[in-house]
Amino acid sequence: MTISSPHNPRLKHLRQLANRRRERDRTGHFVAEGEDLLAAADAAGWEPVERFAAAGSGLDGVAVEPELLARASQLGSGTRALGVYRWRWSAPAGPRCVYLHGVADPGNVGTVLRGALAFGAGSVALGPGCADPFGPKAVRASMGAIFAVPVARVAGVEEVPGPRVALVARRGEPLDAGAVPPDASIVVGAERDGLPAEVVEACEHVAHIPIATESLNAAMAATVALYELHRMARG
Ligand SMILES: C[S@@+](CC[C@H](N)C(=O)[O-])C[C@H]1O[C@@H](n2cnc3c(N)ncnc32)[C@H](O)[C@@H]1O
Repeated sequence: MTISSPHNPRLKHLRQLANRRRERDRTGHFVAEGEDLLAAADAAGWEPVERFAAAGSGLDGVAVEPELLARASQLGSGTRALGVYRWRWSAPAGPRCVYLHGVADPGNVGTVLRGALAFGAGSVALGPGCADPFGPKAVRASMGAIFAVPVARVAGVEEVPGPRVALVARRGEPLDAGAVPPDASIVVGAERDGLPAEVVEACEHVAHIPIATESLNAAMAATVALYELHRMARG
């Protein structure tokens, strides 16, 4: 049977999951859109709670009239496939655990997940004030890494494995100077305010990425640092 009413309760739930963090928190469910993301979920062994596909597309899932599925989609171009998944939280783990503090932009959180997968980070740990990694923008920016990288929720930097390196523009050692162990956890601050002093003080190392400008975006800084430590780890 094809879903053809915009008032269908399953479609309504889908829209609520995408639009409201409260609904994701209440159910522990989130939405991933598009064939590439669903393939990434399959490859990582994630079973969908429910899967929807545009009627006539030949794709797996409950058939939905294409224009209704497009309306439930967060993508400007619409989508042919959508999956609902149960979220998974892990414990923070190394090597190169990335701890984010106050990173409120979901695109940055997703991009950090993508970098974490690329450079073999053991997990991404989200501290206070971070965006929901299971929100639609973060899931999309992760390009499927949300299904492959363990994600942890922590109350503070003390919970991530040491040694920890606070990344602070223009402070401490240059990251490539060799003082920071390649498996260290990487600590990254908020887009506007950076890292609070007490978070920096809780870290064993303070380091900067030498640059010609004031600072990098939080996700860029995390990715460059991951690249550098990963390179060092490979000798
Ligand atoms: C946009 S920056 C924050 C800028 C903020 N105005 C400050 O003074 O820290 C966001 C985060 O990216 C990291 N970051 C940015 N540029 C960096 C650099 N050159 N070296 C090390 N970390 C950097 C830091 O962790 C920082 O907290």
